[in-house]
Formats: sequence, structure tokens, C-alpha cells
Amino acid sequence: MGNLDGRHVSGWAALDGSGTLSPFQYTLRETAPNDVLIKVLFCGICHTDLHQLRNDYGASKYPMVAGHEVTGVVTEVGKKVKDFKEGDNVGVGCLVGSCQGCSPCKQDMEQYCSKRIWTYNDAYPDGRPTYGGFANFMIVDQSFVVRIPDNLPLDVAAPLLCAGITVYSPMKHFEMTESGKRCGVIGLGGVGHMAVKFAKAFGLHVTVISTSPSKEEEAKEVLGADEFLLSTSEEKMQAAVQSFDYILDTVPSPHPLDLYLSLLNINGKLVVLGAVPSPLHLATASLILGRRSIAGSFIGSIKETNEMLNFCAEKNVTCLIETITPDHLNESMQRLDKNDVRYRFVVDMSKSI
Ligand SMILES: *[C@@H]1O[C@H](CO)[C@@H](O)[C@H](O)[C@H]1NC(C)=O
Ligand SMILES: *[C@@H]1O[C@H](CO)[C@@H](O)[C@H](O)[C@H]1NC(C)=O
Ligand SMILES: [Zn+2]
Ligand SMILES: [Zn+2]
Repeated sequence: MGNLDGRHVSGWAALDGSGTLSPFQYTLRETAPNDVLIKVLFCGICHTDLHQLRNDYGASKYPMVAGHEVTGVVTEVGKKVKDFKEGDNVGVGCLVGSCQGCSPCKQDMEQYCSKRIWTYNDAYPDGRPTYGGFANFMIVDQSFVVRIPDNLPLDVAAPLLCAGITVYSPMKHFEMTESGKRCGVIGLGGVGHMAVKFAKAFGLHVTVISTSPSKEEEAKEVLGADEFLLSTSEEKMQAAVQSFDYILDTVPSPHPLDLYLSLLNINGKLVVLGAVPSPLHLATASLILGRRSIAGSFIGSIKETNEMLNFCAEKNVTCLIETITPDHLNESMQRLDKNDVRYRFVVDMSKSI
């Protein structure tokens, strides 16, 4: 046990594109003045993890320690760290670095910095690889660590660091938060279920739009959606034309954009949050004949993430999770591949080797 002292780390790594994870030991850098050493307690599993582990984007480097929805406790801080101390509950999301000097960085939009450093499958300027949250410790620059409010449990908070901020940031930025407005949420996966929860927390009238009738009961009874719209029913879709002010589109596979745009009212806004691998069809009339807009957004800044976490603590917005121990990582990845999860796997890293 003497090797688990926070410098010598035990993680779970993909060694190749097979998608399986094996135990992997490595050493963290010494705590620099701006560093925060974190004992990882929970890490969510995002769809992106699965794609990266399997090299679906063609840029995977192995060994890969994935995981970018991390919560844990501070165990050591560098000399210049003022905002965190030993024992604090903290989180780490998709990024662990950026240039801090470019225009996006200076305006608190470091997620759009062209020199951003990903939490894993990336490298620091000195060439050292970045390793993520499927491990018992991480060391991260204080600028990329967020505080988890005391009344937010660390397990249900973990997926807020990617799935949550992916929804919260565009809702705030594009002003999709006016109480009483009607919001459609397309797709009910990890991001979609957070979209329903945030939309409800902002006081919107929420309709889940889905191809599977089996999701109706869950959407209403468990997640608190006001209505359900079956998108395969031509009749129901026709009846819903021009009935939404906002649509959050979380579907990561090809889908008929024009059909969904027709559901928007005049001045309605649709934001795409899923990265669809092939181009979507768009007839410009869908936008013009209704002064509608379509936009995209990518995660959120550290500033927005802190703001979101406080909002979640105040409004009790948390993720619906299935907690697993690290020895179930392989089978959980396979289940995630079939979307067989309600709605996020979170790995309990304290149950590590
Ligand atoms: C917060 O939400 C969770 C899950 O939705 C629920 O179990 C819990 O009772 C809520 N807590 C409060 C204080 O409302
Ligand atoms: C996953 O499967 C690989 C290959 O069969 C095995 O070496 C590894 O220990 C498994 N990992 C876990 C977490 O069970
Ligand atoms: Zn993610
Ligand atoms: Zn920058």
C-alpha cells in the first residue's frame, strides 16, 4: 500500500484500441506553486471517453487514462494556491490548461483557446502526457480546478463537469432561461437528462422530444418534464409546429434538422450540443420564415462552471447516476456503447486497487 502516496498513482488505462481498461501505474509531477493535488473519489463516464478509448477519432495515444468528470478532495496545494486548501471538495472537467494569453482566454472563454490542454489524451508543453480521472490521484493547475459546494454530493456532482456544463453554458449565453418559456429537449441520454433538469430549474415548460415511446413515463415521472412529444408521429409533430421558444438538441447522430426547426416559434432558438459525424441537411427557409436561429456551443468556462455548481447547489440540480466500482469498467463501457445506462455511470474511485 506504500505506493499509493499521491505521487505514485494507480489508474485504469486503455493500452490499445480494444476498449478494455487495465491497471496502470504512473508517477505524477511534483506539486508546483500553482498545482492542486487531488484524491479522486468519483469520475463520470462520458460518451467521448468511449470514442477516445477506441480511437474512433483517430488521434488516440496509449496508454490512455480517460475520465473528465472528476470530483474529489484536495490533499496538497502549491505555494501560490490561495483559493483551495487540504480537505476541500473540488472538481476537474474537460480541460487542464490553456495559453492564458489569447483573446478567448482573457475573456473567460478558455474552452475556445486553440492551445487548450485536454484532461487526457493530450500533453503539457514539456511533453508529459495528461492522464484523467480513472485514477486515484490527479494533479491540476489551480486555474482548472473548481469548487464543489458542500451540499452537493460528490458522486451526483461529477457528471456536471461535462454533461452539466455542456447544457448550462449555452442556456445562459443564448438567454434560454426566461421563466415560463417553452423548451424542447431532443434526446434523453446523459446530456439530454441534464437539459431537462436545468430547463426545469430555470422555470421553463419542458417537452422531451424522442423517437422512443418507452421514454414518456420516465421523462415525466422521474425527470419532471411537463410533456412528451413522440417525434415519429407525423400527426403529433404537425400539432407541435411553432410551439417552442427554445430547443436543446442533444442527439449525436444524423437527424432531420428542418423538421425540428419547424417546431420553433418566431425568434426561436435551437442549439446543437451533440457532435454529429456527418453534415445535417438544412433548408434556409426553415430559418428565414420565422427569424429562427441555430447555434452551437462547447462545454463552458471555469468561471461558468463555478457559477453552475452554485446554481445546482441552490436548486438541487444533480445527475441521475449508476455508481460502479472500477472492476466493472469494461462491462460498463460495453453497456454505454448500447446506451444502456440511466443516465450516467459514475466510477467510485475510492474502491480502486
Ligand atoms: C434533491 O434531489 C434529489 C434527487 O433528485 C432528491 O433525492 C433529494 O431529496 C432532493 N433534496 C432536496 C433538499 O430537495
Ligand atoms: C478488462 O479486460 C481486460 C482484457 O480482458 C483485462 O485485462 C482487464 O483487467 C479488465 N479490466 C477490468 C477493469 O476488469
Ligand atoms: Zn464529456
Ligand atoms: Zn488561450
